[in-house]
Amino acid sequence: MSRTQPITAIGLDVGTSRIVTAVPSPDGQTFQSQLNAFVAVPYLKLTETSLQRGRVPHSVAGDQIIVYGDESERMADLLGREVRRPMTRGLLNSNEPECMLQIQTMLGALLDGTPRDARLYFSVPAPALGSEGDLTYHEATMRQILEKLGFRETGSLNEGLAVIYAELEDSNYTGIGVSFGGGLCNVAAAYMSVPVLSFSIPKGGDFIDQSAANVTGETVNRIRMLKEDSFHLNGHYSDKLMQALTVYYDDMIQSVVDGLKSTFQSGRKAPKVGRSVPLVVSGGGVLPQGFRERFQKAVEDAGSAIPVSEVRLAESPLHTTAKGVLVYALSE
Ligand SMILES: Nc1ncnc2c1ncn2[C@@H]1O[C@H](COP(=O)(O)OP(=O)(O)O)[C@@H](O)[C@H]1O
Ligand SMILES: [Mg+2]
Repeated sequence: MSRTQPITAIGLDVGTSRIVTAVPSPDGQTFQSQLNAFVAVPYLKLTETSLQRGRVPHSVAGDQIIVYGDESERMADLLGREVRRPMTRGLLNSNEPECMLQIQTMLGALLDGTPRDARLYFSVPAPALGSEGDLTYHEATMRQILEKLGFRETGSLNEGLAVIYAELEDSNYTGIGVSFGGGLCNVAAAYMSVPVLSFSIPKGGDFIDQSAANVTGETVNRIRMLKEDSFHLNGHYSDKLMQALTVYYDDMIQSVVDGLKSTFQSGRKAPKVGRSVPLVVSGGGVLPQGFRERFQKAVEDAGSAIPVSEVRLAESPLHTTAKGVLVYALSE
């Protein structure tokens, strides 16, 4: 990787499922990511050496080794276990203080070698639809972790807005951005980059995986791997697992469309964008074949309530949020 560009800003997407970094590069951005998950395996000197050699983020805790990131998924599957997560539904878990250390270890590995005087912004979810929500703990803790890693200039950006800043330059940052993540779906609308609404829906990939696991009796981890490998949303399934995934996917899509509909119909408080605007879908949840068409159909079925001119797929759905945060950080 040849870098001829100074890194003055970093975009960080701290998702329930995945942590992604974006830094400026001559042809746009360079991304790195790790699963936001870990698993404990018994300590063996041999295991530790293999992990070191494979440059897998890990730490030793007594007679166990904690394996972080992408490798934790494979390890957990080999052992027939579930991976564990430092975050649920978009937020750091305030009941588990050790999750702070876990995130710090993963961020330390991902941000290794980046200049500490760079401006570092991170994404935060919106409150759940209809609630005030409280991001204070999450945001303050994230800043504390980043300061411990040496970053002095930090800030946050709403995730749905990040999607708009990443993808809607051609409509002058006017439109709707939706991120279909693991813990949440985040929605925002902006008019000429000014935020006019945002909310989240507490149903994402984890909800789909958990619900399908309940129906089929497989581990949630296994279901997620099968879903990412071979699930699509065009055509019919006779397979019970694939059919269950379709049912819960439709449930998630409908919840987002219902949220948009009720927000745009909320009387005097309803946002007025004036005309139909583009809507961009991003996040790991949009990756199955046929997703865009399925979502567009649900928006169309909602009628004129949602002022959408077209539904677009983000250019690189797993990187969209980090890219948008970087665009914002560079513009500040
Ligand atoms: N290739 C894929 N096909 C289907 N789903 C995927 C794929 N890759 C990731 N996902 C799903 O996307 C979700 C995570 O999306 P992501 O945007 O990384 O989430 P978060 O913002 O929560 O970190 C998970 O539910 C994961 O299973
Ligand atoms: Mg996300």
